[in-house]
Amino acid sequence: MRYHLMTAAFAASVAFAAPAAATDLEVTHWWTSGGEAAAVAELAKAFDATGNKWVDGAIAGSGGTARPIMISRITGGDPMAATQFNHGRQAEELVQSGLMRDLTDIAEKEGWKDIVRPSSLLDSCTLDGKIYCVPVNIHSQQWLWLSNAAFEKAGVAVPTNWDEFVAAAPALEKAGITPLALGQQPWQASLAFQVLVVALGGTDLYNKVYGEKDADAAAGPEMATVFKAADDARRMAKGSNVQDWNQATNLVISGQAAGQIMGDWAQGEFAVAGKVAGTDYSCLPGLGVNEVIQTGGDAFYFPVLKDAEKSAAQDVLASTMLAPATQVAFNLKKGSLPVRGDVDITAANDCMKKGLDILAKGNVIQSPDQLMSADSLTQVNDLFVQFFNTPSMTAEDAQKTFAEIVAAAD
Ligand code: GAL
Repeated sequence: MRYHLMTAAFAASVAFAAPAAATDLEVTHWWTSGGEAAAVAELAKAFDATGNKWVDGAIAGSGGTARPIMISRITGGDPMAATQFNHGRQAEELVQSGLMRDLTDIAEKEGWKDIVRPSSLLDSCTLDGKIYCVPVNIHSQQWLWLSNAAFEKAGVAVPTNWDEFVAAAPALEKAGITPLALGQQPWQASLAFQVLVVALGGTDLYNKVYGEKDADAAAGPEMATVFKAADDARRMAKGSNVQDWNQATNLVISGQAAGQIMGDWAQGEFAVAGKVAGTDYSCLPGLGVNEVIQTGGDAFYFPVLKDAEKSAAQDVLASTMLAPATQVAFNLKKGSLPVRGDVDITAANDCMKKGLDILAKGNVIQSPDQLMSADSLTQVNDLFVQFFNTPSMTAEDAQKTFAEIVAAAD
């Protein structure tokens, strides 16, 4: 009798827990490197475990390639069920046009406001008081990744800051090692420049230039130091003839190059290659000078679909992405920090721990996208790409043009 009751109870609980039917959801993103693919597989695994099916819609290339494709599918009436964008305003027009699901109900039910930190991440998802996206990680760009083996081969100590890195360049070159790996896609040169500004110039200079559009600061001596460093970086990167950021990271992983200025997503590549932070590679947040990070990252948006079953599965996916276990598994592979402070991240490696520490201290900055209009920022970024690709352009000339752009920026 007792046995029968238990069986019945068990059967009932299984019936209750089992999803009505498996629903396929196509999810688009630009995560195609080894580390990125390993991380996104964790999201897929977690969603599949709910009884639904993640249909992977990876788009090769950078975010700059993927975003127009995503946007045109949504505006063209062929929406995917969920899609990646960066934190910020990239999906703003889609939201304003009513093409994205309002997630406020589920956000309130699950208390996202109490869970997600820093609160700016959820703010970026919010328009007119309604929540339209799920932040999944905190990614920062302000890092220098170093190959310990490269420095050993060159007979110099692994640098602890930018100046030591520059000083090591001749010894590295003598040992046949490219000091700085830099992919040719334009965004990588602009990223390096933005990192040099905040790391070497400090948060005040960064905010003055990008935030207040202070032309005097842009033309001043502190900024001249940054341009001098950019000139060093340009020389140190000569000979790193790769395109994609992860190819550049691979040069560091294999010890062909000594360092790379890149976002913390580079950690995913080191992890896939079986490299250990602190042993095989070192990381210097803020180039070892000003330890600061930008709380950028990725968020998922859910286009409005005319299918009740898929809409219900979208809610499950949104909730799954923020679930503690998913946050830990995904971010450990991605090299990013979880968006919730209440998860157990003791498995974080040395570099992630540095990031968590900086975050806890509140040494955070806003991204240039948040501070400067897209037009002005494009001009700044173009100038820097030009500077990197034109050895005859002096640091002084570049700074002069920079100050003019900042003077006219909004
Ligand atoms: C960023 C994104 C990261 C990372 C990187 C390189 O835009 O936030 O998740 O993967 O691109 O693909």
